[in-house]
Amino acid sequence: MAHAATTGVFAGYDRHSHFSRRLAVVQAALHDAITAAPAGPVFVLDVCGGEGQVLLPVMAAHPRTADVQAVIVELDAASVASARARIAALGLDQVHVVQGDAGLSDSYVGLPRAQVVVLSGVLVHLAPADRARVLQFLPRLCTAGATVIWTIGNRFDPTRARRVHRTVARHGVEVVRIEAVPRAPEDRVRHEVGVGRLGAAADDAPRGVRIFRFRLSLDKRYPRLRALVRRLRRRER
Ligand SMILES: C[S@@+](CC[C@H](N)C(=O)[O-])C[C@H]1O[C@@H](n2cnc3c(N)ncnc32)[C@H](O)[C@@H]1O
Repeated sequence: MAHAATTGVFAGYDRHSHFSRRLAVVQAALHDAITAAPAGPVFVLDVCGGEGQVLLPVMAAHPRTADVQAVIVELDAASVASARARIAALGLDQVHVVQGDAGLSDSYVGLPRAQVVVLSGVLVHLAPADRARVLQFLPRLCTAGATVIWTIGNRFDPTRARRVHRTVARHGVEVVRIEAVPRAPEDRVRHEVGVGRLGAAADDAPRGVRIFRFRLSLDKRYPRLRALVRRLRRRER
């Protein structure tokens, strides 16, 4: 699916990379979820939605776009500005960006219940306890039976994806399918995209609840490890 050129942290989407391949799989899952949503209005919630790379191209091309309202919750001011500029350029008046902390319940107060929730590039950045908390929180944000789309990448730990899918399943989401993102020989990351169905809904989210804290990437937490990996890669070439 076509997407606008990006800068900064999302530049990986503009090359043929493991990120652009993941993006295509997530977008296809979102397209299908909107298609399959019950007739009538559909609300899509994109948690930590960045510049809208996942959501906006799908919204722009989907035959049901007139039925769909969507909100991107994103903290980073530059990404928010970029998402808003794209929304304006695409004329997608039914998409809004909430600039705020997606890990805090206040950011969701007053939003409609979501029939589709997207957690793309999110769970990998959360500690295991926070992954559990965000999943436990979904029934306060979504309708019963909502579609949940998530991604998880394995770089150093080949068991992580399996563990994360199990966590999703333990917290009220029936796992419908797991799709492995196609890999190129040079890819060091394996991504998987999960699609699930939420069980029952729960009461609205109260204000003031800390759901999760986004962690820095492994590279940023462990700069010496990053330097070591880079040296090893240079030696491999
Ligand atoms: C790995 S990117 C994924 C972006 C998008 N979902 C995608 O798949 O293209 C993670 C995004 O989360 C945003 N982010 C980090 N902490 C956040 C927070 N506490 N609340 C909202 N957004 C946050 C970052 O600015 C970044 O745009």
